[in-house]
Amino acid sequence: MLLFSTVNIMAQDEGNPLSENSQVCARCHGNKYYTFHNEVTGTEVRKRMNPYLLIDTVKYTQATHSFFSCDDCHSPDYAVYPHASNLKLDPKPSCIDCHGGDESFAKYQFDDIDVEVQNSVHKIAHGEQFKCEMCHDLHSYRLVARNENSKIKDIVVQDNQMCLSCHNNLTKYQILTDNQKPEILATHDWLPNQELHFLNVRCIECHTPITDTLMVSHKILPKEQAVHLCSDCHSTNSILRSKLYKYTVMESRTDQGYYNSVILNEAYVIGANRNKYLNILSLAIFGLTLLGISIHTITRIINKK
Ligand code: HEC
Ligand code: HEC
Ligand code: HEC
Ligand code: HEC
Ligand code: HEC
Ligand code: HEC
Ligand code: HEC
Repeated sequence: MLLFSTVNIMAQDEGNPLSENSQVCARCHGNKYYTFHNEVTGTEVRKRMNPYLLIDTVKYTQATHSFFSCDDCHSPDYAVYPHASNLKLDPKPSCIDCHGGDESFAKYQFDDIDVEVQNSVHKIAHGEQFKCEMCHDLHSYRLVARNENSKIKDIVVQDNQMCLSCHNNLTKYQILTDNQKPEILATHDWLPNQELHFLNVRCIECHTPITDTLMVSHKILPKEQAVHLCSDCHSTNSILRSKLYKYTVMESRTDQGYYNSVILNEAYVIGANRNKYLNILSLAIFGLTLLGISIHTITRIINKK
């Protein structure tokens, strides 16, 4: 099913090529197989790479943090293989370690996001075990929603993939809990045409509150508080205006003085489109039709005479 396939998001910018230091790591972590020299037996050994330790180097070079070398975040001692066993204990940097309290990142409001994450269902249930990196894989994460060149569909795919990477993947889910994983398709079967919906709206549309201050709300609410009313989206007052279409809506509001253009261009949400130009156009068509009928009637009356 399309929803769960990995769609490659096209690069909006060139990204950065792998540095020399990173290429050392990519020789093994970027391939399904790796080779090393076994000094004890004096032989070359070829083995399969653990799939969970594979880094997609194409996505890496397009990622927001692609300007980093692997050894900026991981110990340079990893260049030696076999890796020293104590490296396993090395702490890994998290978003807030680098971005917390730094003025140059103020517009992203990292600290406010952190507070929201603390209050989300995941942190409440799993505490420190649930890290930002569970959604934001630093090796592939790209800033999308804020990027004005992003297509709505690309935003939806990347953002939903963050949730589905776990909610549709038992091995990742079970890092956190042995509880039964709810089947997303089954729990959402009240939604008609699920596939279409999941390709056009994000999970967070329904699972987070509306926020005026943040680009993306990070407070995942308990399921009882999720949006289930069709009219929340399918109405002129659609919540999508303050969520998915937020950035573009702001743009088109200032550019064109009316705010339905995005909804009209990218997805026609039934009921959400009230555009004054369209209204005028349909009135005009209605008027012309009336006029046509009148002329027709009048000419028929005249011809009869
Ligand atoms: C010769 C192949 C090879 C090279 C080169 C290599 N690695 Fe590894 N790395 C592995 C393998 C295989 C594992 C799986 C655990 C093991 O066998 O030690 C691993 C494990 C890891 C782990 C996980 C450790 C853990 O906690 O279990 C990290 C992180 C890592 N490597 C980072 C790096 C970085 C960063 C570089 C480059 C500076 C690098 N590796 C270079 C083969 C390699
Ligand atoms: C911006 C920081 C950053 C950069 C750059 C980075 N990593 Fe990582 N890496 C992390 C973090 C943080 C984790 C832990 C993720 C988690 O806990 O889910 C991680 C996890 C890993 C793991 C899995 C280890 C484990 O315990 O599961 C491997 C392997 C790895 N990185 C290899 C690389 C390689 C190879 C590169 C370069 C091509 C690289 N990383 C670049 C931050 C980074
Ligand atoms: C090792 C330090 C480090 C870590 C860890 C880290 N970042 Fe960054 N990040 C940076 C640096 C440095 C920049 C580049 C800033 C610049 O372009 O001036 C950056 C850039 C960004 C940008 C884009 C800024 C822009 O204007 O283009 C975003 C968004 C971002 N990081 C989010 C995150 C998130 C989310 C995490 C955690 C999942 C994270 N970062 C983890 C250091 C880090
Ligand atoms: C449950 C999943 C999830 C978790 C956990 C999560 N994020 Fe996010 N985050 C998202 C999604 C989805 C987006 C939207 C990405 C996009 O389209 O650019 C996002 C976007 C962001 C952005 C960009 C916001 C902007 O203004 O454009 C930042 C910064 C960020 N997250 C930081 C964090 C930090 C810091 C943490 C941990 C304290 C964190 N995130 C944890 C899902 C998550
Ligand atoms: C149109 C709104 C909407 C969208 C989009 C949506 N959800 Fe939901 N979701 C709900 C509602 C409403 C419930 C509560 C259903 C119930 O209690 O029967 C729910 C329930 C859930 C649950 C709890 C299931 C359980 O039985 O415990 C999870 C997990 C979940 N959603 C994840 C997701 C993920 C992941 C996505 C994106 C792929 C997503 N949702 C998209 C509205 C939505
Ligand atoms: C790394 C795994 C992981 C990721 C990523 C993740 N979740 Fe979850 N989620 C869980 C687990 C585990 C639970 C069950 C929590 C518990 O134990 O109560 C859960 C529970 C939920 C629930 C149900 C809460 C309730 O009231 O029962 C919702 C809704 C939900 N997640 C939505 C999302 C959304 C939306 C995203 C993406 C923005 C996301 N999740 C990302 C693992 C994840
Ligand atoms: C989170 C917002 C949201 C909610 C809630 C929602 N929808 Fe939708 N719906 C959309 C979007 C966005 C589309 C995609 C529009 C498009 O591109 O065709 C859509 C498409 C549809 C379509 C298909 C229209 C077509 O073009 O074929 C139907 C039918 C529909 N929704 C019915 C419903 C019903 C019934 C409910 C309530 C049970 C509901 N929706 C709840 C946002 C929502």
